[in-house]
Amino acid sequence: MASISEKALRVHEHLIEPPTEFREKALIQDPRLYEQAAHDFESFWGQVANEYVTWFRPFETVLQFNPPKPGTKPPWIQWYVGGKLNACYNCVDRHLQGWRRTKAAIVWEGEPGDSRVLTYQDLHREVSKLANVLKSLGVKKGDRVTIYMPMVPELPIAMLACARIGAIHSVVFGGFSSEALRDRINDSQAKLLITADGGWRRGNIVPLKRFVDEALESAPSIENVVVFHRGVMDATLVPMRAGRDHWWHRLMEGASQECPCEEMDSEDPLYILYTSGTTGRPKGQVHVTGGYLVGVTASTRWVFDLKDEDIYWCTADIGWVTGHSYIVYGPLANGATSFMYEGAPDYPDKDRWWALIEKYRINTCYTAPTAIRTFMRWGEEYIHHHDLSSLRLLGTVGEPINPEAWLWYWEHVGGRRCPVVDTWWQTETGMILITSLPGIIPMKPGSATKPLPGIFPEVVDEEGKPVPDGTPGYLILTKPWPAISRTLWGDPDRYVEVYWARYPGFYFTGDAAMKDRDGYFWLLGRVDDVINVAGHRISTMEMESVLVEHPTTAEAAVIGKSDMVKGQIPVAFVTIRQGFETGDGLREELKEYVAKRIGTFARPAEIFFTAELPKTRSGKIMRRLLRDIAEGRVLGDTTTLADPSVVQHLREMYEEKYGEGS
Ligand code: WTA
Repeated sequence: MASISEKALRVHEHLIEPPTEFREKALIQDPRLYEQAAHDFESFWGQVANEYVTWFRPFETVLQFNPPKPGTKPPWIQWYVGGKLNACYNCVDRHLQGWRRTKAAIVWEGEPGDSRVLTYQDLHREVSKLANVLKSLGVKKGDRVTIYMPMVPELPIAMLACARIGAIHSVVFGGFSSEALRDRINDSQAKLLITADGGWRRGNIVPLKRFVDEALESAPSIENVVVFHRGVMDATLVPMRAGRDHWWHRLMEGASQECPCEEMDSEDPLYILYTSGTTGRPKGQVHVTGGYLVGVTASTRWVFDLKDEDIYWCTADIGWVTGHSYIVYGPLANGATSFMYEGAPDYPDKDRWWALIEKYRINTCYTAPTAIRTFMRWGEEYIHHHDLSSLRLLGTVGEPINPEAWLWYWEHVGGRRCPVVDTWWQTETGMILITSLPGIIPMKPGSATKPLPGIFPEVVDEEGKPVPDGTPGYLILTKPWPAISRTLWGDPDRYVEVYWARYPGFYFTGDAAMKDRDGYFWLLGRVDDVINVAGHRISTMEMESVLVEHPTTAEAAVIGKSDMVKGQIPVAFVTIRQGFETGDGLREELKEYVAKRIGTFARPAEIFFTAELPKTRSGKIMRRLLRDIAEGRVLGDTTTLADPSVVQHLREMYEEKYGEGS
């Protein structure tokens, strides 16, 4: 590792040029795209929309933007006004007219090793049939459908079936608990739920239908449940409630393959996707049909240099935005072959991903830094047994990537032939905003590089003034882009408050960043309560509000501590009510409690019991100090503390556990 570190330092100062062989064949070789977009960004996005998306009726105006302000109501941001289209038509039907009809749309492998290939024609048939099934169960345009499924082809089929008939899907990641599922159903008032008996994870069954049954005890809006039989358990062992629960395969038996695509307005919602929120109530990001589709279709083609003969693999789960945009909508709208894998990277052994790349001759691999760091820890021998020569492009997303991990990926996975695109974006942005066009922009390990053409980020100070190059500040976007989330479902005021109130007229990302003298962006992490644990986005406030609901807990503060592999891990500081005993038993119970309420990925790595939390004189918990303690840093300003001895005590406790400077 030491040698990579040294190299990191050296390379860091240099730009890594896109490998010649890649550059010569790249789809986009002409840097004038940037100038053209900067010159007139509206007409640029107008041209892109006409070139990349099929419209039933052309749009009249590219953009109508009324900056969201407190006290105002949506629509604030409207792209492609007057345009009519259908996302499913763009992802499926339009590919049936030419040779792509028989091209593989989805190549899938299950964790146990079973595999399937669906051509665009197969996808069309399955999606149309399911769309008819949904209609027969009373789902109409504008209704919400919650989808809670493992990573099987039926998940994108379900999403596309909703899009086909104009229903708004809300996919809930299969790792979320029944309570998180229930909250999301209740917030969106979904009418129908699509799920499966379960899924496979590291050889174990994830019993999704059981979680659904628990969630539905208090989610009265759901009228029907469609259950896909993944086969993790015998169908006779899955409890099915008569009148409510229906087997997918039974409903599909009689369904017609003819189902016209609903004509949707450009601004009609396509889906809701929840991010966890500070008040405990999840935030339903609303993505709309036209702008979202334009944004993901164009960015997929540009960033992943998509070629028709590629097998493209994004390793994310479709339950997160990365999967929505870059497994389903972006690749399929381009008529690409999107590879999907159901299970864990270390099942049956730690070389599973490399075996998949070799077996399917995969060309593009788009993953998260946390996965890369895990593979680094496991060692190169798992990689070097496999032939990865089919790879020609690598990507990362979800958190800042350290130069060591970047270089390791570039060297050991990509064999120094594959550009690495470090893509910065968010659930809210819908599409990648900052990354390199791989045939044009020289890379700098650890930097997401430059904004895509037509995207305008800026780094500013508290007052909103641009900071000098090389100075950290807050990352904002000064102009809207087509795929931006339009509002929060049922809570437009919160949308204004979170994203638009701080810098009026500009979108606030919640991230800190620095721009260097070459105009490259370096992302420095969140400045709000969000932490990124192994690529999963979690609100520490949500964890705190769950912890204090436990009968023993008086107060809780959760912070993110840096972690070599996961990026950050949640650490909780908890004060206990009078009369309860602290100890390992309670510690485990509280960890379980958070896992059960939010999902196992949110389980606190460590819980510290303390008689008091450090607070300001006005009673605010000073999380900054807790972070300093956890990182072993010199304590920041403690002058405003009500009782400085609290911090000293916490620090001693922490050091006892982790050793000094941990
Ligand atoms: C972080 C994932 C640095 C960032 C698509 C952002 C990144 C949050 C990068 C959004 C990157 C994402 N470099 N940080 N390349 N990509 N982030 O909503 O803090 O799950 O605000 O979307 O992840 O996470 P989300």
